[in-house]
Amino acid sequence: MKDYIVEHKWKIIEESYNSDYNQITESLMSLGNGKMGQRANYEESFSGPSLQGSYIAGVYYPDKTRVGWWKNGYPEYFAKVLNSVNWIGIDVKVGNEQLDLAKAKTIHSFYRELDMQKGYLYRKMEVTLNNNARLIIESTRINSMANDELGAISYSVKSVNYDGPLTLSPYLDFDVANEDSNYDEKFWLSEEAIANSNECYVSCTTKKTEFVVGAAMTNNFFLNDEKINSTIEYKTKDKKAIATTVFNIASGDTLTIEKYAGLTSSMHYSNSDIKRNAIQIANTAAQYSFSHHLDRHTEAWSHIWETCDIKIKGDVAAQQGIRFNIFQLYQTYTGQDDRLNIGPKGFTGEKYGGSTYWDTEAYCLPFYLSTTNTEVGKNLLIYRYKQLDKAIENAEKLGFTCGAALYPMVTMTGEECHNEWEITFEEIHRNGAIAYAIFDYIRYTGDHSYLEEYGIEVLVAIARFWAQRVNWSSKREKYVMLGVTGPNEYENNVNNNWYTNYIACWCLKYADESLVYVKETNPSRYIEIIKKIDFVEGELSKWKDIVANMYYPEDEDLGIFLQQDNYLDKEQITVDQLDKKHRPINQKWSWDRILRSCFIKQADVLQGMYFFEEDFSLEEHMNNFRFYEPRTVHESSLSPCVHGILASKLELHDKAYEMYLRTSRLDLDDYNNDTEDGCHITSMAGTWLSIVKGFGGQRVQENKLSFTTSIPKKWEELRFKIKFRANLFEVIIGQDKTEILNLEGPASELYLNGQLITTKSLATISTLN
Ligand code: BGC
Repeated sequence: MKDYIVEHKWKIIEESYNSDYNQITESLMSLGNGKMGQRANYEESFSGPSLQGSYIAGVYYPDKTRVGWWKNGYPEYFAKVLNSVNWIGIDVKVGNEQLDLAKAKTIHSFYRELDMQKGYLYRKMEVTLNNNARLIIESTRINSMANDELGAISYSVKSVNYDGPLTLSPYLDFDVANEDSNYDEKFWLSEEAIANSNECYVSCTTKKTEFVVGAAMTNNFFLNDEKINSTIEYKTKDKKAIATTVFNIASGDTLTIEKYAGLTSSMHYSNSDIKRNAIQIANTAAQYSFSHHLDRHTEAWSHIWETCDIKIKGDVAAQQGIRFNIFQLYQTYTGQDDRLNIGPKGFTGEKYGGSTYWDTEAYCLPFYLSTTNTEVGKNLLIYRYKQLDKAIENAEKLGFTCGAALYPMVTMTGEECHNEWEITFEEIHRNGAIAYAIFDYIRYTGDHSYLEEYGIEVLVAIARFWAQRVNWSSKREKYVMLGVTGPNEYENNVNNNWYTNYIACWCLKYADESLVYVKETNPSRYIEIIKKIDFVEGELSKWKDIVANMYYPEDEDLGIFLQQDNYLDKEQITVDQLDKKHRPINQKWSWDRILRSCFIKQADVLQGMYFFEEDFSLEEHMNNFRFYEPRTVHESSLSPCVHGILASKLELHDKAYEMYLRTSRLDLDDYNNDTEDGCHITSMAGTWLSIVKGFGGQRVQENKLSFTTSIPKKWEELRFKIKFRANLFEVIIGQDKTEILNLEGPASELYLNGQLITTKSLATISTLN
């Protein structure tokens, strides 16, 4: 766990130069606007530890899968979110010496901050170079939320004691590679690199997928705040366009460059329009000042914060944590494009290539449903609906028939694409999360039309998969499910993972009920659908039989559901008995040792109890929580939030707070020693869940919102807004009482701490906690 980020309500601050942590900070202070983003790399050259990364949403490369021994059914490729054009670069040369922080003679001061309220990255540092030139560098950077194809930088160099030539070379560089490339291959082919007084532009095409990305830049220069026209030498080199200017400066002078980059791609333009638009965006931007763009960007952020901010009084670390999570989520996905999804690393790193995991449905959907327009949640579901054919193909490749669908664990296009077999591929539970999301969406929005329009086809295809995936065990006289990996990836190829068996049966029941619903409410559509998917009602009897006769591993003496058949054969030790030096076990232990141990990577049985809480008594919740929590190492970012929500439900307040801090500060404090690879974006929605569903106890009950509130002892107050159907509510939870303000929409009933209450428009109601 690291402790170098300064606590602040709205900012992520690094107050000194931490070379060892630079890659962590690069991840933490990443910028994005839903369409593009990049790590917090320095603009000037830097020879210290760094992962240079700029990414464009939806642009990927199918890197050939790398496995030791190829077997039938392996995914053909591992989709890579592509490191794309580096548009931020500005080389700085003082006399003959290149500015490079890693090589500077003295670093007098260094300060870097990510302002989450305004959405910018700022840096200020004072350095002396080896030629004794002392300089103050200041830079501010945005990926504009107001114009999501625009990146802008204000970069200034102030001479403290230096008189002489200062060379600034802003550039665009497409000669980039992915760190995680399977075969050290570069994925971009050069299209064009051009640099002259009218245009500075580079573009490349991806191999195989043929995405084209173009970047143009326009620069303005200022000496002591006065705009200056300088002689610029233009140059192109391979995939790079450079504009170099030499100025003679004197001590006390400040030279500033405002750099604007227009970034366009074939995701949004025809190939012939990419260049023109990129150039136009950069040129138009350069007609205004950087502060103009910063203001528009800040204003766009203030609209987002207006609904989704969460305010915690009395705990700065907790406040910083939740804002950091919300900020990164909205930087990654704004929900405007149903071709896009929420990658586990967003624009902050490359690990986990591929854009979509079950994380979206299981964790992110509720966040977007409550904090923005319903359309965004719907887009996330439609994304999967559009990939149904591919999910059916995926299942066919494995020998399933008759329209059974297996959604991929990792995907860009609907095809399965990852490097691993047992860990990832056998996690067929993801099919369950996709069905659960349909249920969750309808329960939350009340939009049943989704079911007949799209959802029912997905549900039937998923149910068909489960009906074929189980088998009858004559020994047990029950249906069983063999050879799976549950959410806990520290056990592979297990039999009867309780969570998977449970969610499979739930899917069968829900698909059955949904068919009945559509048949009753829209008979003609029902007939249309069953014709389209060749559904025969006889399929239902098989589903019902499975539901009635499924095997669930349990231990009656302990009063728990067993994670899988052989879980209790393992040596039972708890995490507190494990020496700290062994953690995280995924970095310290062999895979063999991990698989044999009883340690659990992430919520598994408890994930099921969280989804289907109404099916279980409080005692069952408590028994399972008390058994599994001490065995869970939470080495998946998706884990602590679920444990936190359950701890709140069970009134284990200290545990709920511990889990909240762990989920919300997972990256800020680098709990799992892996933030340098990028931030854990999808689990950030889990942080939101652990506040709203945990401390707020928010649920949907009988078509109404319901809250059961309690906040950590340290907090004076927790405040958040929730969109629910026609209403926008503000929930204000204090130590003793909770108030709810009906900010928008008609009078509406809700449950607050067990009481059914009517909230009148613009009025506040309150109860004791
Ligand atoms: C988790 C998976 C998750 C993936 C992407 C893994 O470490 O175990 O559940 O889907 O990360 O976030």
